[in-house]
Amino acid sequence: MKEVPYNQYLKEVDQHLRRGGIFLTTGHDKINTMVIGWGGINIYWGKPIFIVPVRKSRYTHSILEETGEFTVSIPMGKNLSKELAFCGTKSGRDYDKFKECNLTPVAAQKIKTPIIKECCLHYECKVVYKQDIIPENLDKAIDEKWYPDYHTLYFGEILTCYETRDS
Ligand SMILES: Cc1cc2nc3c(=O)[nH]c(=O)nc-3n(C[C@H](O)[C@H](O)[C@H](O)COP(=O)(O)O)c2cc1C
Repeated sequence: MKEVPYNQYLKEVDQHLRRGGIFLTTGHDKINTMVIGWGGINIYWGKPIFIVPVRKSRYTHSILEETGEFTVSIPMGKNLSKELAFCGTKSGRDYDKFKECNLTPVAAQKIKTPIIKECCLHYECKVVYKQDIIPENLDKAIDEKWYPDYHTLYFGEILTCYETRDS
């Protein structure tokens, strides 16, 4: 495990978000992971923040509301396309996605939510703000194209960021 500055791999995170997505993991006793293709790293309140958009219908949404923390794991060039496809289409309400995909949860450093061993870059985040998309404030064309299942934007302060090597 090698700690790295939160902004060392901004370009790679952007590429993974655009091509295939990244893993958003939640939960303590019952853990779950899903895929996001939107969001990213920003600065708010002088802190590095990972913003993750989670639609209210996702199982992940209900877990995040309870725990207020998450990890983000990035494949970093490793081919996890099968795992991303499964975790990005099946719900943790119906499947244990770690088991189904042979993904290994590993204890995180600063929070109780695990990271995914098979990925090589990880962010541990604590939710410091959340905001539901407000339809009245949204561009009409975007609203018609993407909704009615609105996102909540979770702003997770990045507590630590590190690289791991899969064995
Ligand atoms: C490439 C990709 C990107 C996705 N991006 C998002 C996203 O940004 N927000 C979201 O709520 N769902 C997104 N999804 C869908 C969820 O990952 C999917 O609905 C998942 O099954 C939810 O799992 P859960 O019910 O266990 O939380 C994406 C799926 C894929 C394949």
